[in-house]
Amino acid sequence: MKINNICCIGAGYVGGPTMAIIAQKNPDINVYVVDVNQEKINRWNSSDLENLPVYEPGLAEVVSSVRGKNLFFSTDIDKNIRESEMIFISVNTPTKTYGDGKGMAADLTYVELCARKIAEVSRTDKIIVEKSTLPVKTAAAIKNIVDETGNGVNFQILSNPEFLAEGTAMRDLEVPDRVLIGGEQTESGKKAIELLVEIYSSWVPKSNILTTNLWSSELSKLSANAFLAQRISSVNSLSELCEKTGANIDEVSKAIGMDSRIGSKFLKSSVGFGGSCFQKDILNLVYISKSLGLNEVADYWNQVIIINDHQKRRFGNNILKSLHGTVANKKITFFGWAFKKNTNDSRESAAIYVAKQLLNEKAILQIYDPKVSEKQILSDLKNLNVDMDFINNKKVICLNNPYDAVGDSHAIAILTEWDEFIDYDWKKIFEKMKKPAFIFDGRNILDRESVENVGFVYKGIGN
Ligand code: UDX
Ligand code: ADP
Repeated sequence: MKINNICCIGAGYVGGPTMAIIAQKNPDINVYVVDVNQEKINRWNSSDLENLPVYEPGLAEVVSSVRGKNLFFSTDIDKNIRESEMIFISVNTPTKTYGDGKGMAADLTYVELCARKIAEVSRTDKIIVEKSTLPVKTAAAIKNIVDETGNGVNFQILSNPEFLAEGTAMRDLEVPDRVLIGGEQTESGKKAIELLVEIYSSWVPKSNILTTNLWSSELSKLSANAFLAQRISSVNSLSELCEKTGANIDEVSKAIGMDSRIGSKFLKSSVGFGGSCFQKDILNLVYISKSLGLNEVADYWNQVIIINDHQKRRFGNNILKSLHGTVANKKITFFGWAFKKNTNDSRESAAIYVAKQLLNEKAILQIYDPKVSEKQILSDLKNLNVDMDFINNKKVICLNNPYDAVGDSHAIAILTEWDEFIDYDWKKIFEKMKKPAFIFDGRNILDRESVENVGFVYKGIGN
């Protein structure tokens, strides 16, 4: 088998950037990215590169260099599956909101739909690559579905988990620490692995491409994210201790991180981690462990989530306490809504949880984020079951300009570490606010001394 055409189902944060790079690095292969969402596909095809569905530094340049040449976006799912030798599944796998495993297990509805679709329309042998983060043993489920419903064609399933982090996706794809490919340890399984290795080796050194069995690959993704999230929860748990003792978490982090065995990354204390992966993957790990009767293992990882929830709530509580125990009818400005800088993604962002907490205390929120739209902010609140009366009664106001967003505000809460916040004219901002004017820096990005000199009361995390 030779790979001439690749089809990727799902044109989101993973599928879009990944396929753009695969196409750019493999000019001989045609890459078709398909999605059920027509509006999304239109935006991927639009000449307005500022308005792609995914904001990611460097993405627009790559898309414009290959789109229409060997990278195509379309809603014609059946045709593109049928004509491709390799099919990536990059659809969303949110945490289940119903039934068995509610709030913990991954919802595999979309993955299953993809598997059925592939089985239904395929006329020739296919390699199916699971790209979405999936619980261990999903490949087996996909294999069962396609083998049961297929038309006698052969399917090989590979696991090729995504390690890109949003905001740095293009660099992570271009120079990955490693590419992981898991497959069946049979002759045809190994052949399929080899074909995918070939695609990546167009730009990734062979020594960075790791091949494993299917389950190792699936479990490695969950584990890598759990380890990263665990570091943040560890440091965040210490931030509370710092606040009680007068230690400074940034100094502690630096001191810990200089131990080469620990290393400096992922030790930045914050209002809590967000994003589509960490919480979901840990919950998956917890769920799998529980299902296997490994209660101690489940409790161990669950604690990472408990600390993260605690950190978000603590941040809200701090605002409340500093404003004399009540924020009712007080304006609070949010700088940042995305779960981290350089992305327009707000899934599981700490901002949503803090907003809900403050709205329940009857605050008025004036929100500014450089890349997240008002529509998205309101839909995030709705999804978290925030009372829609707050929105109808204009308790949530989204603004396009940071200087407007601080008007008559009692406090600013920094939820995302956007670089532009550092360069603001903080004196001008101070003048527009009610006094005493507070800054709650959930990312510790501002210099305490300079904003205190302007007149602000500054509260960072863990210092
Ligand atoms: C993560 C993994 O890093 C990536 O490998 C995987 O493929 C998908 O999940 P992502 O969710 O895009 O990527 O972002 P990441 O950079 O890991 O940040 C996750 C959250 O942790 C963000 O909310 C971020 O602000 C927070 N964080 C990160 C901290 O609070 N402190 C840190 O030191 C690092
Ligand atoms: P991720 O971060 O995993 O990429 P996204 O939500 O950004 O998640 O992207 C997933 C995409 O998959 C969405 O655009 C969604 O419309 C698409 N999708 C979900 N189910 C299907 C399906 N059965 N067929 C085609 N596309 C699908």
